[in-house]
Amino acid sequence: MSENLIEEGKKNAAYKAVEENVKMGMVLGIGSGSTVIYAVERIAELNKKQNLKLKCIPTSFQSYQLIVENDLTLVSLDQYPELDLDIDGADEIDKNLNLIKGGGGCMVQEKIIASNSKEFVIVADFRKNSDVLGVSWKKGVPIEVIPISYVPIMKKLEKLGGTPVLRMAQAKAGPLVSDNGNFIIDVDFGEIKDPSGLNLKILTIPGVVDTGLFVDMTSKAYIGLEDGNVRTLTKKRFRL
Ligand code: A5P
Repeated sequence: MSENLIEEGKKNAAYKAVEENVKMGMVLGIGSGSTVIYAVERIAELNKKQNLKLKCIPTSFQSYQLIVENDLTLVSLDQYPELDLDIDGADEIDKNLNLIKGGGGCMVQEKIIASNSKEFVIVADFRKNSDVLGVSWKKGVPIEVIPISYVPIMKKLEKLGGTPVLRMAQAKAGPLVSDNGNFIIDVDFGEIKDPSGLNLKILTIPGVVDTGLFVDMTSKAYIGLEDGNVRTLTKKRFRL
């Protein structure tokens, strides 16, 4: 698979999502990952031309830096507890627009921001779209846990039918530590036919902070295809 086609897919999806959804004066969630970089690039271009007066809330240290480096206005969830729009990437998107997120380890803050946004728009390339979660994303469902609880949690995840692996840091001995000071366990559950049920079971385990399963949260997904087109998928969204 050509790297160029993948990057083109990410860029086309991100640009289209920004052009169709970002409006003057919005409070905007900025997701994390490599596709969101293109979205921020386009937001910054439009903002320079049109002074969109956007207020941006980050979902990770990476997106905090993206906001600052692109001269966008940084605000917090304390100041703006309801966002107009959140644009983020995903590791896998199923036919119901349920997601696996957290390949970059940022899913806890990403879920908080998405759950407080009127619209949650996903940008991704063609590799991410599948019928059922667990088909194209083989690294497992990321689960953030309080460090002292990781061993018993891994045993419980095995009982739920998963194969858990503690995510290790790169260029540092030991586990990866999330933006929230926690560990991340990646759990292969094979094909996930009932993401909502699985998510709820995992969330009942003490020490689990949250999972990378985003169920019934996405309102639109923009998928950059290999032929240069962008497929747009929409869904009526359930939000508390
Ligand atoms: C970050 O933890 C993730 O949830 C990302 O949003 C997701 O991994 C998508 O990243 P890419 O755009 O780099 O594929």
